[in-house]
Amino acid sequence: MPTTTRTFAEKKRRAEKIAIVTAYDALTAAMVHAAGVDAILVGDSAAMVFAGHETTLPATMEQMLYHTSSVARGARGAFVIADMPFLSFQCGLDDAVRNAGRFLKEAGAHAVKIEGCDGALVQRLVAAGIPVMGHVGLTPQSVHAFGGFRAQGKTPETAARVHQQALALDAAGCFAIVLECLPTDLAERITQSVRAATIGIGAGVPCDGQVSVINDLLGLSTGYLPKHAKRYARFYDEGLGAVRQYIDEVRAGAFPGVEHSIEAAGEAGAPPARVNP
Ligand code: KIV
Repeated sequence: MPTTTRTFAEKKRRAEKIAIVTAYDALTAAMVHAAGVDAILVGDSAAMVFAGHETTLPATMEQMLYHTSSVARGARGAFVIADMPFLSFQCGLDDAVRNAGRFLKEAGAHAVKIEGCDGALVQRLVAAGIPVMGHVGLTPQSVHAFGGFRAQGKTPETAARVHQQALALDAAGCFAIVLECLPTDLAERITQSVRAATIGIGAGVPCDGQVSVINDLLGLSTGYLPKHAKRYARFYDEGLGAVRQYIDEVRAGAFPGVEHSIEAAGEAGAPPARVNP
């Protein structure tokens, strides 16, 4: 059954966990869709893990549209959520609605994700037929306001504030809310008090589902792995080994072999355009 916004509510009701990963390109999207994820988030984390920036702030609307349409093409039938980049929704309701609509109209997304708590904007988007995933806790677009990538809601006052934000997003009509880097007991209280499905990243097991950055999951990164992330494979190390072997073989004259070489027509017939190992 393809995922829709209703799937999130149904899974929450049945206490079935929701598994989401990020993707930024068609091939990765095809892979995670074939693996059976419930939804794909085209996160503005693309600015960091794809484009090499220190924060998500440089992501632009045009870049996010490009990533989102690539993902939607690569994973036909998947539920695709597009992350609205910094300053695409903070400068007025009309621009925000127009920008959000572009993800559905031009890029093939089914929903948008918005960081922070703007109930009026969520209501406008939902009224316009644009499903919204909220995002509270460590919202990376506020990294400078937070003084770094820091867990949120660790004191009673900040926990109460984050909880209020989640309640407001729920009341405004979000179908799901990302809880990022929050204490587990706070995530549990939020999960129990909202209708929306809570999707945790660094917020413990009580959430209704989890989202992971695909590069962390695949080990496709060079350095720091966040405490909340789990590496299930070592794609970077595998790739490094493969490219080193290729370099060695080129330098030793061992690649290309005859099987990768083109014969003159008449000797061995027309060569195939492409030979896979
Ligand atoms: O940009 C992103 O990938 C995200 C997830 C980490 C929730 O916002």
